[in-house]
Amino acid sequence: MIDLRSDTVTKPSDAMRRAMAAAEVGDDVYGEDPTVNRLECYAAELLGKESGLFLPSGTMANLVAFLAQTRPGETVIMSREAHPFHYERANLAVVGGLMTRLIEDPLGKFTAEQVSDQVVREEDPHLSRTTLVAIENTTNRGGGACWDFHDVEAVASLCRRHDMRLHCDGARIFNACAVTNVEARYYAQCCDTLCFCLSKGLGAPVGAVLTGDAPTIRRALDYRKMLGGGMRQAGVLAAAGLYALEHHLDDLREDHRRARSFRRVLEKEGAHFPLPSPTNILYIETRAPERVVRALADRGVLVLPHGSDRIRVVFHRDIDDAAANQALESFKQVLCA
Ligand SMILES: Cc1ncc(COP(=O)(O)O)c(C=O)c1O
Repeated sequence: MIDLRSDTVTKPSDAMRRAMAAAEVGDDVYGEDPTVNRLECYAAELLGKESGLFLPSGTMANLVAFLAQTRPGETVIMSREAHPFHYERANLAVVGGLMTRLIEDPLGKFTAEQVSDQVVREEDPHLSRTTLVAIENTTNRGGGACWDFHDVEAVASLCRRHDMRLHCDGARIFNACAVTNVEARYYAQCCDTLCFCLSKGLGAPVGAVLTGDAPTIRRALDYRKMLGGGMRQAGVLAAAGLYALEHHLDDLREDHRRARSFRRVLEKEGAHFPLPSPTNILYIETRAPERVVRALADRGVLVLPHGSDRIRVVFHRDIDDAAANQALESFKQVLCA
């Protein structure tokens, strides 16, 4: 099967598995796993932050970032398309006791002016204060859209003016960097915390890293333990993450190139892509998503239905040129015949 459902389906390569097998390990809950410590330092340095924290998932990375920077009863401002709003089982509300104020935009981005409209800082006891803004870069539901660096700067400066924290869900931040040519550390500099996933386009089997200032990351560590995210001899997993950061970053450009050329061909054949999609996540319009998904599966290609009018196609490192071309032929038969 050619699996284009998500970049989370990537499997560790032989070289990555060898790095995992060779990892030096210790008990990370005691802070004694040298490979986890190395990954956390490496990530913090890469993003120009004081500290890093290895977590089992992007979901937990977002959650501990929210918990470490808010109190129950406060409000987080984010896009209506944001991952925590749609796909994290309401953990913000259930675990964090948080409200959300949402900004509408099909690409999942927003401007400082739009944030400004949502800010509540008054001491009025009727109101829930907005204390955190969360951006997503790239945006999953926005078709892998990248934030313009100046928009991030403007949102950051608004957050500082209103004494609000800024978190970046950078699950795919390196995909954004590959397109904008802005180094991840510059995005991170604007934000109080930034997390990224190792288990998506970078190809590690598990994990995410949250970076930020030392006191915030210390609080995040407490919440990670509270949530059951202390992972003992996690160096085996951290080794995969380190390997991915050291060897796979540049390959993201290849995923983008394949996504672009796939789109170009299908557009010529009459397919409609509702979003610009500059990175690896594409949406294709169809009136019958479930039928299209089944017809593609019959031809050996896996994709996901998305709502009532589109399917999602994600390119990643386990899809080489041959697989991309083979998938393309199936799409032509199903979508354009
Ligand atoms: C933008 C974004 N944030 C967070 C996550 C959550 O990551 P995980 O699946 O590791 O919990 C995802 C997963 O797809 C994502 O796309």
